[in-house]
Amino acid sequence: MSVVIRATEVVDDPRLLDLLDAAERERADRRSDPTPFITAHALLRRLVSDETGVDPRSIAFEKRCATCGTDRHGKPHVVGMRDVHVSVSYGQHVAVAAITTMGEVGVDVEDLESADFDGFNSVTLDPSEAAHLARVDADGLLAARALTWARKEAILKATGHGLVVDPSQVVVSAPDAPAALVEWKAMQHPPGPTQVADVDVDRADHRAAVAVLTSHPLKVRLHQG
Ligand SMILES: CC(C)(COP(=O)(O)OP(=O)(O)OC[C@H]1O[C@@H](n2cnc3c(N)ncnc32)[C@H](O)[C@@H]1OP(=O)(O)O)[C@@H](O)C(=O)NCCC(=O)NCCS
Repeated sequence: MSVVIRATEVVDDPRLLDLLDAAERERADRRSDPTPFITAHALLRRLVSDETGVDPRSIAFEKRCATCGTDRHGKPHVVGMRDVHVSVSYGQHVAVAAITTMGEVGVDVEDLESADFDGFNSVTLDPSEAAHLARVDADGLLAARALTWARKEAILKATGHGLVVDPSQVVVSAPDAPAALVEWKAMQHPPGPTQVADVDVDRADHRAAVAVLTSHPLKVRLHQG
């Protein structure tokens, strides 16, 4: 069992739009820059297709919100494939998708610039994590912040909570240590065994991580493009 991840640069390729369903196209249409959304959702469809053999256009996704239970937003699931878990993350430049049968999965990619704001520590970090980051050289600080943030968000996407959980209450390992959930301090029910791995998306200005709710060690297979 492994986690398969696909990462790609965001590209304006009209063929990708053909892979999306009507609801995804509507969402894409509402965006001032639809390219990252289209790239990411086409990537997720191609990944699910590669791993399951189903035509990418005939895959249907449903959503489920862990907080309010609606099916109008929240974590994506593949209709008719209960044992298949997926996640997707994207920004202006990079999109990443993950699939596994190991357990609920969350993937997250972060641009270093998105971690460049005053108050990052107070909004996102536990004091123990702030102490780790205080030891990082100035030229590595944004990468360390982005990696820490990606690990936390990957965990919160795997649990389905997203940022309803205060990320400072989800304590992860030091950026120079193997990725791990160290402590769950949030009031929401803890997720149980959780494995985390960093994902090398081959861009110096991005960091990414994946989390799976499982006790088994993660084997990650990464495909670029
Ligand atoms: C999940 C979340 C952290 C992602 O934020 P982000 O960094 O902007 O976006 P990413 O690119 O990394 O991921 C986006 C994808 O995460 C997935 N996602 C959305 N909500 C999710 C959740 N609760 N759990 C797991 N994945 C989720 C979707 O596939 C989404 O893609 P889409 O919006 O194009 O369909 C953020 O959207 C969030 O916190 N959502 C939860 C909000 C919520 O539940 N509020 C309470 C409502 S009752």
